[in-house]
Amino acid sequence: MVKLDVSNVLAEEIGDNGLIFDEVERTAKRALSLVSEKKFEELDFLNLPKQDLKTLKKISEKARQFEYFIILGIGGSALGPKVILESLSPFHNLIKKPKVFICDNVDPTTLKHLIEFIDLKKTLINVISKSGSTIETLVSFLIFWRMIKERRLPVENHFVFTTDPEKGNLRRIAKEFNIPTLEIPKNVVGRYSVLSPVGLLLAETIGIKSEALLEGAKVTIEQALKENIRENPMAVLASCLYLMDILKKRKIVVFIPYSDRLKTLSEWFSQLWSESLGKDGKGTTPYPSIGTIDQHSQLQMWIEGPEDKIVVFLSVDMHGFQEEIPKEFHNIEGLSFLGGHTLEELINTEQLATEMALWMNKKPNMKIMIPKIDPFTIGQIFQFLQTTTIMAGMLYGVNPFNQPGVELGKRLTYGAMGKRGFESEGEEVKNYFKKKKTLI
Ligand code: PA5
Repeated sequence: MVKLDVSNVLAEEIGDNGLIFDEVERTAKRALSLVSEKKFEELDFLNLPKQDLKTLKKISEKARQFEYFIILGIGGSALGPKVILESLSPFHNLIKKPKVFICDNVDPTTLKHLIEFIDLKKTLINVISKSGSTIETLVSFLIFWRMIKERRLPVENHFVFTTDPEKGNLRRIAKEFNIPTLEIPKNVVGRYSVLSPVGLLLAETIGIKSEALLEGAKVTIEQALKENIRENPMAVLASCLYLMDILKKRKIVVFIPYSDRLKTLSEWFSQLWSESLGKDGKGTTPYPSIGTIDQHSQLQMWIEGPEDKIVVFLSVDMHGFQEEIPKEFHNIEGLSFLGGHTLEELINTEQLATEMALWMNKKPNMKIMIPKIDPFTIGQIFQFLQTTTIMAGMLYGVNPFNQPGVELGKRLTYGAMGKRGFESEGEEVKNYFKKKKTLI
């Protein structure tokens, strides 16, 4: 199971910068009872481990026959699949097929290079959008749709939609053109949807068993319900991060896994934490990071910069590759002391040394620990971080499932691009351009 070390946020270790465990415990208990009190229907994502995988398996069988598998989606509809790809099939496109591309931005150059590289005849395009109205996803879809039609390829063979069971543009197009679809259950929202077909179609397509990911999630949900706080690391993590903000004014959460395979997990977590908690002037700012690299980039700021951060390490015990460092250059002390150790030993020692350096400087830090990276642990860690975020949301008294703050930007974009019903937003954009600007 995923473990959590909270020693270095406690006052007994780091003095005045730390928390009292009794308070952590009380707050963790409050988080737990709030989750069971508030009956958000979006908590339905907790039922994902029980989902029926039949259609998903069938479509993934077809997907495996293609040379290229493209995902069009953004936010919760792209970051989860990215984590699955990079953590469970590193260097995928150099080794395996189908080659996978996840297009979440509408950067014209990225799209141009991708289009030049792939062969459309051998490409399956998975359009993922819960709402079916996200502008970036729809635009990329329209471009690929036109190309498929121009080449006179059957659209129903080259597209798969992952979307709402009933509503939205994609559902409508799917019905009209007979496009195969997978459902994101009605109450499951974007950033909590990775273990729905959003992430699972890709997983199956690249040879990862959904069952293992879902089993990881299942055991973590059971753990999250434990009332004994000492057996419930999610409630404790939520409590510590909340108290560090409220009592110690630590407003930045550095999230630093020590594995390249978990780099996109940092991005995924940042989106989850930001969109779920940044409401009513509340919440803390996630800082996606990666070890050991940021030791040579950000660590100085964490150790001697402003007292506004809490560092959350994610350590991996076994990296699955025991490369021994060669015993060479016996006469050069600066190299010879490294010989005989392993790379795994080095990366884990560096994590420990960084944690200790923070502790010695009385900087709060915590550590999430996983034994290794595999589908079961990745399923666990998704669930672990999702549950922690919801519990933190309960403590802040915000709704962790909506994102009202991002709607205005969307409406202004609709207005500027001429969508019907958004004329006044279009006017506002025009007026904004006319305003005198301070250009220097
Ligand atoms: O977490 C969320 O709800 C958002 O980040 C969405 O995933 C993102 O905006 C994309 O939405 P959709 O899947 O509707 O295209």
